[in-house]
Amino acid sequence: MAADVVCIASWNADLTSRVAGPLARGETVAAASFDIGPGGKGSNAAIACARQGARTAVIARIGSDEFGAMALRLWRDEGIDASQVEQAAGERSGVAQILVYDDGDNSIAVAPGAGAGLGAAQVLRSREAIAAARVVMASFEVPLAATLAAFDLARAAGVTTLLNPAPARALPTELAALCDVLTPNEIELRALAGLGAAAPLHEAAQALLARGPRAVLVTLGAAGCRLWTRTGVASALPGWPIERVVDTVGAGDTFTGALAAALARGLALQAAMAHANAAAALSVTGRGAIGGMPDLAQVDALLARRDAAR
Ligand code: RIB
Repeated sequence: MAADVVCIASWNADLTSRVAGPLARGETVAAASFDIGPGGKGSNAAIACARQGARTAVIARIGSDEFGAMALRLWRDEGIDASQVEQAAGERSGVAQILVYDDGDNSIAVAPGAGAGLGAAQVLRSREAIAAARVVMASFEVPLAATLAAFDLARAAGVTTLLNPAPARALPTELAALCDVLTPNEIELRALAGLGAAAPLHEAAQALLARGPRAVLVTLGAAGCRLWTRTGVASALPGWPIERVVDTVGAGDTFTGALAAALARGLALQAAMAHANAAAALSVTGRGAIGGMPDLAQVDALLARRDAAR
């Protein structure tokens, strides 16, 4: 069965320690806890998308180690089509070393492992799945050649392209021209636009829109999100008040995945943005990248609370 959303996906095993706050250079501290769990910006977004009800497929490259087996089990359990995943013999899977602080914020170092070998040839073998999808999404955690090949196929077939430009890096002109929607955070937006840290968000968004994307949707953490489009629409949504932020790892991925699912369901960009904003807020209430990721019923229930309060 064709997938609604195809994700060019990174996969990492997240090795997470909880500590009070950021470490000083050379400092050693005792961690309050340690967990090994699922991660990778692409896999996280695909899971968020599937939990929002979209038929989701991943195109990924993983290792032949225990973490690769963990990915295959996870995608099967989440109902994600992993038939186009390549398991590279003798290679290690991606790993992310994560520190989560008492306030829920984090620092992450990623070693992509087998994921670094995901290339255009593997993507081209999935051309039918891409052309049959409604949305194709990727992040900067997979090699650019793979994303370019996928977005090229998607554009030719009239499929919406969605890029989470994380972690921050420069956006090549040819890729900018193939993106329909970008979901950077504030830091990534300014990096993509080539502007300094003090540049107003509006200015950075306009600079980016001039390079090709139809829309730029900036995630602002607890402050919600803002949207700018080429047709002149500018709108903002406040964040949802969350009583206790447990872990913000994966919140941006949840936003992108939930947005993809909502767009694939046929929602207009502003309605899809409300779903993504609510899903991302709920995601910070659980541990690990996918621990708090909601399903569609939970997102609908949260959105209904705001409607009822109006
Ligand atoms: O966005 C969060 C993700 O970034 C983590 O799951 C980690 O694997 C890194 O890819």
